[in-house]
Amino acid sequence: MALDTHQQDKSGLDVAQLRADTRGCTEVVHLNNAGSALPPSVVIDTIVEHLRLEEMIGGYEAHARAGDRINTVRDSIGALLDTSGSNIALSTSATDSWDRAFVAIKFASDYGPDTRILASSSEYASNVLPVMQLSRHLGVQLEFIPDDETGVTDVGALESMLDDNVAAVLINHCPSQNGLINPVAAIGHALARAQSNAWYLVDACQSVGQLPVDAVAVGADFLSVTGRKFVRGPRGTGFMYCSPRALSELEPFPADLHGTTWTPDGYTMRSDAQRFEAWEKSYAAVLGLGAAVDYSLALGMDAIFTRIEFLSGALRSMLAEVPGVAVLDRGVDKSGIVTFNHESVEAAEIVAALKNAGINVSVGTPEYSQVDYIAHGVSSLVRVSPHVFNTVEELERCVEIVSDRTGSATARY
Ligand SMILES: Cc1ncc(COP(=O)(O)O)c(C=O)c1O
Repeated sequence: MALDTHQQDKSGLDVAQLRADTRGCTEVVHLNNAGSALPPSVVIDTIVEHLRLEEMIGGYEAHARAGDRINTVRDSIGALLDTSGSNIALSTSATDSWDRAFVAIKFASDYGPDTRILASSSEYASNVLPVMQLSRHLGVQLEFIPDDETGVTDVGALESMLDDNVAAVLINHCPSQNGLINPVAAIGHALARAQSNAWYLVDACQSVGQLPVDAVAVGADFLSVTGRKFVRGPRGTGFMYCSPRALSELEPFPADLHGTTWTPDGYTMRSDAQRFEAWEKSYAAVLGLGAAVDYSLALGMDAIFTRIEFLSGALRSMLAEVPGVAVLDRGVDKSGIVTFNHESVEAAEIVAALKNAGINVSVGTPEYSQVDYIAHGVSSLVRVSPHVFNTVEELERCVEIVSDRTGSATARY
């Protein structure tokens, strides 16, 4: 649902309060929330407080004192994903989550040249590279699912590709290099309709925290998420949703003594998603992640996405008026990730000009998602990713700099 320039923010959020809650707003215009968002101050205060406790009484003792709160972080994340905390495993990044799922699937399977793994065309490099390794060493076939005419994963095409040899389906919910939103729930339904045994892995790294995600409705076996992007948690945190099927059929490999107990007769595993966790964690970071999730829950995911949609829609409208700029975002429904390039000015030069003006955005290049970049003839792009605390004035300033750097005047929003 794209916004036009006449639409207003209907989120009901108190932007002045959101900015007061976010200390970094006084320093920078941060439009790189798809990279690593500005956290609310409560996140950093929570982390520092726990680190101070570790300093004063010892790490294990600080953990014991925070005990209950640490355990309820998984419940908060479960609430964010409309599921139970027992289906949530903590990790250190989206890739860490993904790898734990992927290795467990591989450990339970007998892969060979007949094995097929299907992936969305916008898949993130770290999700594709392990499959390429399996291709090189075991002959596994990696196949990319075509996009439909709107530019998102074509559900019908995926259905026609399914057979008993498809071991896994990998879908990027919101790519980092495009504002599209892939139809992950429709894909989940298609897999169920086809009674496919393929494991369904959804990369929800860029979607969770900016839009409502119902893990069960998506129908995925795993959803992998990072803490530092739209969730606004600390760096070095992540988590994943594990489906009941994943928990009943898969073992993490290698097992860690957090989720697996060495018994006199062998070993036993936890039945909940903690079986996928490592014993050692930064508990300060985990608590900070919990504070970030609770902050989002208090605002409400519908309100958060309404504001992000408003800001990103307004930004796309303004950018579209700058001569020579092409807004690259595909799909009918769009995320808060706004991507564009210019017919004659390099993306890196635009990003540098914005940086000089105190505006953080990022540059995208093909090694993050080769298939997507090649298919659309894009060699680099500028990515602008607003969050709830950004303002229309900040976006106007951003577009002014783009306009100046690319040598043209732009209409005021
Ligand atoms: C879509 C997507 N998936 C996965 C990742 C990897 O996340 P992490 O660096 O937390 O492993 C990123 C990071 O930018 C991403 O944008």
